[in-house]
Amino acid sequence: MGETQNIREPKNALVLTGSPRPNGATIALVDCFVAQWRAQMKPEDPVQIISAYEAALKPCIHCGYCKHTQGCTYDDFIPLDRAFQNADLLVVASPVFCLGFPAPLKAIFDRTQQYYEAKFSLGIQKPVEKPKYALFLVTFGSPDSRGAAMMEEQLRLVFHLLNARLEHTVMARNTDTLPLDRIGLGHTFQGILQDFKTKMNSTNPSR
Ligand SMILES: Cc1cc2nc3c(=O)[nH]c(=O)nc-3n(C[C@H](O)[C@H](O)[C@H](O)COP(=O)(O)O)c2cc1C
Repeated sequence: MGETQNIREPKNALVLTGSPRPNGATIALVDCFVAQWRAQMKPEDPVQIISAYEAALKPCIHCGYCKHTQGCTYDDFIPLDRAFQNADLLVVASPVFCLGFPAPLKAIFDRTQQYYEAKFSLGIQKPVEKPKYALFLVTFGSPDSRGAAMMEEQLRLVFHLLNARLEHTVMARNTDTLPLDRIGLGHTFQGILQDFKTKMNSTNPSR
């Protein structure tokens, strides 16, 4: 009995990336995060990375299907739903494109309308059951952080539907002219993951 109570469930990180460039600043920022995750967490704690460009979801067509039936008329969201349901920590990593999210990432966010309808039209209290600790990693070419601030507001809305709480935003600015400060970012992610572990332990001591 005592033994089973002490079993620690793995913690799952899900990273959703919004850059089309595998060698760009956003993926470098994700690499810094993943390196810290691997250093700080246990080997059985997986990190799944989903590229919005590779997932290439169809945009929401506002057909009304999700208002009457849980899910979506298109089936391409199913792997993402599975990933959202499993995640303990959710990271959205994106460049700023014209003060907003690149189109494939925006398409994913619009498709979370199915969770909104599940809750408010179908009466399903928690369409995404597991609460999540969420991070926003954002890169932009200029020193102007207005795009990042607007994207953060959009994300708060989406995170609410995903049962996720935005805990930290990490910005890398001037990416078109300056290299990433990998050492500084390593320290930042180290502190964030310590906070994540503390919060996970205080909300569920058996985890
Ligand atoms: C279509 C497009 C729109 C962009 N819009 C902005 C912008 O509004 N503000 C800004 O600071 N940088 C903007 N940028 C620059 C990118 O945010 C910056 O280069 C970013 O680091 C790219 O991410 P990546 O290196 O991961 O591909 C834009 C770049 C592109 C290609």
